[in-house]
Amino acid sequence: MSAVKKRVWPKVENIFEQQLTKSTVFLNKDIISAHYIPEKLPFREKQIGEVTQGLGAVANNAKPNNFFIYGKTGTGKTSTVKHVLEQLDDFVSKRNLPVSSCYVNSRSHPSKYKVLLKALRSFYPEKDFLGYSASFVYEKLLSFANENAAHLILVLDEIDKIKDVDELMYSLSRGNDELTSGSITIIGISNNLTFKEKLDPRTKSSLCEREMVFDPYNATELQKILQERCDKAFKEDSVTPGAISLAAALAAQESGDARTAVMLMQRAGEIADMDETMIVDDVKVEKAKASVEEEIILSMISTLPQQQQLVLYAISQLSLSTHGFTKVNGEVEKGVMFSGEIFEAYLQLAKKFDVRTITSRWFRQYINELEMYGLILVTSSGKGVKGQTRLIKLGFDAGKIKSALEKELMKAF
Ligand SMILES: Nc1ncnc2c1ncn2[C@@H]1O[C@H](COP(=O)(O)OP(=O)(O)O)[C@@H](O)[C@H]1O
Ligand SMILES: [Mg+2]
Repeated sequence: MSAVKKRVWPKVENIFEQQLTKSTVFLNKDIISAHYIPEKLPFREKQIGEVTQGLGAVANNAKPNNFFIYGKTGTGKTSTVKHVLEQLDDFVSKRNLPVSSCYVNSRSHPSKYKVLLKALRSFYPEKDFLGYSASFVYEKLLSFANENAAHLILVLDEIDKIKDVDELMYSLSRGNDELTSGSITIIGISNNLTFKEKLDPRTKSSLCEREMVFDPYNATELQKILQERCDKAFKEDSVTPGAISLAAALAAQESGDARTAVMLMQRAGEIADMDETMIVDDVKVEKAKASVEEEIILSMISTLPQQQQLVLYAISQLSLSTHGFTKVNGEVEKGVMFSGEIFEAYLQLAKKFDVRTITSRWFRQYINELEMYGLILVTSSGKGVKGQTRLIKLGFDAGKIKSALEKELMKAF
């Protein structure tokens, strides 16, 4: 009897297996993601010390002062505060102190009610309090502090996103006065440098009992920060020193933003994996630049207040449709417009979307902020053209900005 020959199939690996075993420059890709909070935060020792000192009052059973922290994005505010909170939680649980903290990203909880609900749920994890009234949620939070004689620390990150922040701060400071034991402390964080000026004077003095500014990092600092992150995130010898110094220089030039720096290295690593060269050099960083820039600008647009989005929408519309600005010598500069035209276009848009309109004073303020974020460039026309007026130009591709805004505004209306 002849043996039945077993058929041997040619071995084709599963495409996911192939993907898994593909060579990569990363050792631990998470470490170079912008969401990752490193254990060590170089150049933030002083800020960590100040927040720690402020919150240290709880060790003596006293209410810490409220704290307002601000500075441009990517300056390490969120990382610093989260780091201190982790240490605080560890400290109070070991010593059995009645202290509870809660981190709230106000972008996801943008109203007084939502913030209080989020805090309450974190202190009573087994209940969800869905559908409870605002006053119930507020009272319940106060009674949690009172009954447990607990010091509650609420971190409100991106606090400028809370619509009724004045009311929230007012309720909480009134609540503190009512408490016979325990307390509620607010740590507010904002990327917006002018937010403080927009607050009601009472809110301002309550929130800013202590305050601290985070300055942008310079190129040398960013280089050191990146070096530490890259040493752990990438395989040995897969990143050239030139790549790190270029990423640091680019991010320092733009804004001193560590997030941009980290994203540049992450993207450069992905590019190296894609072309299987196994080396992240300055050429890869250069390639990463355009896509990181675009991602950052689009995410910044999504976080602007709605009125400011309308102003920017007016600018992008005009910049696609107008002929430009004719200089004294007859040359036409494309994409340049007068601030007055923009205000007119904004008013039309506001009418179309049926939202209340901002005054021209607020409009100027929004223009200043858009300039600060690098989304627009503002110059003076010089004397002669309609007196002296401001000329405005988009700092980025008008078509892309316009379509990103259309998506955002579509969600809102
Ligand atoms: N001093 C630092 N050392 C290491 N990484 C940092 C440092 N500062 C910021 N980062 C990193 O930069 C990114 C942005 O930091 P983040 O704290 O979110 O900034 P912000 O809240 O000010 O916008 C994160 O990936 C963070 O880990
Ligand atoms: Mg932050």
